[in-house]
Amino acid sequence: MPSLQDKIADRTAHVAVIGLGYVGLPLATAFAKAGFRVSGIDLDQRKVDAIAAGETYIPDVPQEELAPHVEAGRLTAASDYEGIDECDAIFICVPTPYDVQRAPDLSFIRSASRSIMTRLQPGQLVVLQSTTYPGTTEEVVLPILEESGLKAGEDFYLAFSPERIDPGNTQWTAYNTPKVVGGLTPACCELAADLLRKMGAVVHPVSSTRAAELTKLLENTFRAVNIALVNELALLSERMGIDFWEVIDAAKTKPFGFMPFYPGPGVGGHCIPVDPYYLFWKAREYDFYTKFIELAAEVNEAMPYHVVELVTRALSAQGQPLSGSRVLVLGVAFKPDVDDPRNSPAKRVMELLRVRGADVVYHDPYVPRFRIGDDVFHRDPVEMASVELTDEALDEADCAVIVTGHRAVDYERVLKRAPCVVDTCNATADTEGGRDGVVRLGAGELGSKGAGEQGAGSLEREASAGCGTSAG
Ligand SMILES: NC(=O)c1ccc[n+]([C@@H]2O[C@H](COP(=O)([O-])OP(=O)(O)OC[C@H]3O[C@@H](n4cnc5c(N)ncnc54)[C@H](O)[C@@H]3O)[C@@H](O)[C@H]2O)c1
Repeated sequence: MPSLQDKIADRTAHVAVIGLGYVGLPLATAFAKAGFRVSGIDLDQRKVDAIAAGETYIPDVPQEELAPHVEAGRLTAASDYEGIDECDAIFICVPTPYDVQRAPDLSFIRSASRSIMTRLQPGQLVVLQSTTYPGTTEEVVLPILEESGLKAGEDFYLAFSPERIDPGNTQWTAYNTPKVVGGLTPACCELAADLLRKMGAVVHPVSSTRAAELTKLLENTFRAVNIALVNELALLSERMGIDFWEVIDAAKTKPFGFMPFYPGPGVGGHCIPVDPYYLFWKAREYDFYTKFIELAAEVNEAMPYHVVELVTRALSAQGQPLSGSRVLVLGVAFKPDVDDPRNSPAKRVMELLRVRGADVVYHDPYVPRFRIGDDVFHRDPVEMASVELTDEALDEADCAVIVTGHRAVDYERVLKRAPCVVDTCNATADTEGGRDGVVRLGAGELGSKGAGEQGAGSLEREASAGCGTSAG
């Protein structure tokens, strides 16, 4: 019988991907594209049905990349774990959210591990991809898998390889972003690395699963802290009457020692607002307090409150109170040009506006429905529907607040028709005719007249640099 190594080498290894979401579906497609047979498993029957029909639901996986592999029978999907015992390598890509107290919720990892355990076979390779705190693979996944009676590192292989996908980023994708891999043993690491290389990835092996887990948290904490830094300085710039966007544009002309991050209404997505808390939580077990993480969270989570303050000031400059005003929120996805609204700062902005008596509506070309008011603060859930961005919708609004700067939105038109505009992410930078009267976050007290003419940078979304609006 050929070994796993042989099957990887000649691409006959059968790969299973558990969790076919923003991470799992691109990974499954990448393996299929590399010539491997792939079985996807997701408890969500709608996703399974979509794949069976060759239909994509993740913008980063275009229809033409998915459908041929489904048609060829190389990529299949199921909502149960039947047949996973026949797979050679199993990737776990399930969610790792936090609970209301911001403690890690590993229930999805535990549940997936248990489902694998009951069918685990000698010689199989299991790779955890979900973002989590250092120790999860060894302290949570390993003991569950060993309940099978098989021994990790001897009877089966276990590794951790963090996913680094950046939804909406067309330059760095599942195909060309290097992968970090840490194994329980050197053999575990080698097998996982070989398989990922065959998928087409450049692989950077590390000495342990913990090192690989911490690598991912370093990357995301780095972003959270830097975004917090620019958010704090943007608030200072506003008080000083300096256009902070112009300052970032100037600073980034330095070819070394500086990397631009951008301020915004807060952080969102599955990663930046969540992952650092995983590390913060785990650190306490070691009598250690990760102060930078907490400080960054404090600054970033205060940004939606500042946005509401800007809206209030913009309206009062026109002699109008916030209460009773109609506020049109533009963009509720957690970052530009994606359809993912998870943990979006728009949620808190809209909740706060509503609590303060505003009549809130929103427009997002990618998010047709958006639920707000469902946490302990408000307990007043409401499922909102995106309104069309018509002239009437703009005319009827007392204030339009740009929370996420989707490229598909015509900001010229917004500026022309809305009586007052708050821009939290520099989305109006490229509009012609100046931006007098636009209240821009980070651009001086009430967007001091003329600030827009001072050459603030264009709306950049340098994913690698972490466009500060929010990130996942
Ligand atoms: N979205 C990103 O940009 C991104 C980037 C890097 C890392 N990550 C990490 O990757 C992991 C997955 O994130 P995602 O964005 O793909 O989540 P997602 O919610 O888009 O997808 C997860 C999928 O797992 C399925 N699922 C849940 N429990 C399951 C189970 N027991 N068995 C089978 N399927 C199950 C869900 O139905 C869902 O479709 C998380 O840990 C996240 O932090 C996400």
